[in-house]
This record gives sequence, structure tokens and C-alpha cells, in this order.
Amino acid sequence: MNRQPVRMTIFNHKGGVGKTTLTVNTAFALSAGGKSVLVVDSDPQCNLTSYLLSDDVVDDLLDHSSGPNGRTIWTAVKPVLENTGVGRLVEPTMIRDLALLPGDIRLSEFEEFLGDAWADSFKRRLGGLRATSSISGLITRLHEQRPFDFVLYDTGPNIGPLNRVLLLDSDFFIVPVACDLFSVRALSTLGQTIKKWIIDAGTIGSIAPDNAMSLRSEPRFLGYIPQRFKVYGGSMTRGANSYLRDIRKRVHGDVSSVLGKINHNLIPSNATDPVVGRVKDYTTIVQRAQREGVAMWECSGNDAGKKSAKAVFEGIASYVMENTKAESASAARG
Ligand SMILES: Nc1ncnc2c1ncn2[C@@H]1O[C@H](COP(=O)(O)OP(=O)(O)OP(=O)(O)O)[C@@H](O)[C@H]1O
Ligand SMILES: [Mg+2]
Repeated sequence: MNRQPVRMTIFNHKGGVGKTTLTVNTAFALSAGGKSVLVVDSDPQCNLTSYLLSDDVVDDLLDHSSGPNGRTIWTAVKPVLENTGVGRLVEPTMIRDLALLPGDIRLSEFEEFLGDAWADSFKRRLGGLRATSSISGLITRLHEQRPFDFVLYDTGPNIGPLNRVLLLDSDFFIVPVACDLFSVRALSTLGQTIKKWIIDAGTIGSIAPDNAMSLRSEPRFLGYIPQRFKVYGGSMTRGANSYLRDIRKRVHGDVSSVLGKINHNLIPSNATDPVVGRVKDYTTIVQRAQREGVAMWECSGNDAGKKSAKAVFEGIASYVMENTKAESASAARG
């Protein structure tokens, strides 16, 4: 069997902190670095799909997702919900070298079902355990058809049952944090929530019949990314800098320390300040890149910011490749 891909989520339940933008651009940077990447739009808002594909293509995908020619994540999981199979293998949609499993607004129906499946998993019910593991299993089967180095899940802004299985299927997660009061405060809920998910998954795994629970349930915190901070005269503004100090403190106290208490392997070795990268406010470059379905550094226009974005995302991709390589827990999966 092929070595399993590194599965990774850029996660924060706080809305609008730039998860989707980061996920797409990190995927483009990993792909430019020669890695084979699958991005999974596992947010029913479908923003990642809308970033990468034109509106008419998205419309067409959504119109046909329940039929025999469906190609979205809903097409893939619908048989699980209807209890007619373990999930359908859909051919990923290629955007140049990047593979996409397109999102679907109907994924929210699956999310409800996953909530019940989790409760059933605690009762050792096989149907619940299979549903809980179904997205993970689909990715494994997709990878068997065409191997990936990285699988990136894009998550919606909540701590619901769907994000729970995505996080628990991830080998690593990165936390983007915007430089504002609510984003900083959200870190406490984030750490506690992930802790509870890991502990609950451990309980389920320990009582489940053999091989019925395939979620790895050991998502490692790779680090954080300060997001959308303002820059003035080449440096971070004073306001952004002061948030940055808070973020550093909270990441340490509310995320690293909390997860490190369950298992020291869940936190990075540089746990006091694990910065994966710094993504400033790139203003209109982001909107243009989104409209054109390309990486920030490849959109039209001559802005100096494009060069900076390229360097920043190359740095993020290098950090990810370097820090997921040797310690990739996923190698043990297969
Ligand atoms: N670095 C950036 N500079 C400027 N604008 C950005 C940046 N990152 C994201 N944005 C803008 O901020 C908005 C939110 O970004 P995005 O959709 O990536 O966030 P999100 O966390 O995925 O949101 P949600 O929680 O709804 O899924 C978008 O309009 C996007 O264009
Ligand atoms: Mg998003």
C-alpha cells in the first residue's frame, strides 16, 4: 500500500479568519513545491470551491451532485447517509496540478447525521462507527487510486460534528488567528474543544470492535499563523503587534499547554512560539486571486504584495513539509 498522505486542517471555529484563503494558497504553494495535493472542501459554505472554480461550473456541480454523474463531497457521502454503501469514489476535479473534492451545500445534511453517528459510536454501534469513519475511509480509497502527498481539509466556522471527524482524521492542524479581540479569545474554546474531541475519540476507540474506528484521533498542533494584520512603513502596526503578544501567550496557555497535558506528542517541539508563517492584510490581491481562481502571487496586477505573498506561502509550505516529514504519524496508518 502507498504511504498515506499527510492529512492537515487549517482550523479555527472563529469565522472569517482566513481559513479558506490560507488553505488554497498553502495548497498551491505545496503543489508548486512538487507535492501532489488534494484539497477537500468540507465546508457546506463551499467557499473553497468558489475560489477555485467559476460560478457556472460550481452551479453545474451542485445541480448534479445527487445524480449518477455527481462529483462533489455530497455525492461521495450520500450512500453513507442513505445506508446503501461506504461512500462513492468521485473523481477529483483538477485545477492545473491541484486536485479538488468540491464542496456542497447539502453536506450540512450529512453533518446532522454525523452528530447521531457519534452518539451511536459511544454505544459501540457499527453503523455509527462506520459513518464516523466514512470521510476518512473515502480519502484512503481516493489515495489508493491516485496517491497524494498532502490532503487539506477546509473547515467551516464551528465546532460541529463534521469538523470533529475532520480534525480527528488529521495528522496535523494549523490555527490561523486574526489580530482582533474575538479571535484571540476564541483560542481558549478551541484548545478545550480539541482536547475533548481527542479524549472522547480515545474512549470510542477503546471500546469499539476491531478496526471499526479508523480515525487516527491524534491531530498534532503544528503551529499558528497571525492573519490579516496591518502593516505600515514595512512593519506591523503597533495595534497588531500588541495583539500578536496576546496571541503568543494564548496559543501557549490555551492550546499547546492544554493538548500537551493529554499527550506531549500532540504539540510542536518549539511549543512556546510555533509560528508557521505570518500573513498580512493583502487587501485587493486576495479578491483578485479569488476571482481568477489562482494563487495570490499569480493574480493579475503589478502589486508589490504579490512578491511578498509568494515568499510567505513558500515559507509556510517549507515549514509544513519540513515539520510533517520526519514526524509524520501518518506513515504508521497504512
Ligand atoms: N491575508 C488576507 N488579506 C486580505 N484579505 C483576506 C486575507 N485572507 C482572507 N481575506 C479575506 O477575508 C475574508 C474571509 O476570508 P476566508 O473566507 O478565507 O475566511 P474563513 O476563515 O475561511 O471564513 P469562514 O469562517 O466563513 O469559512 C474573505 O473575503 C477574504 O477575501
Ligand atoms: Mg472558509
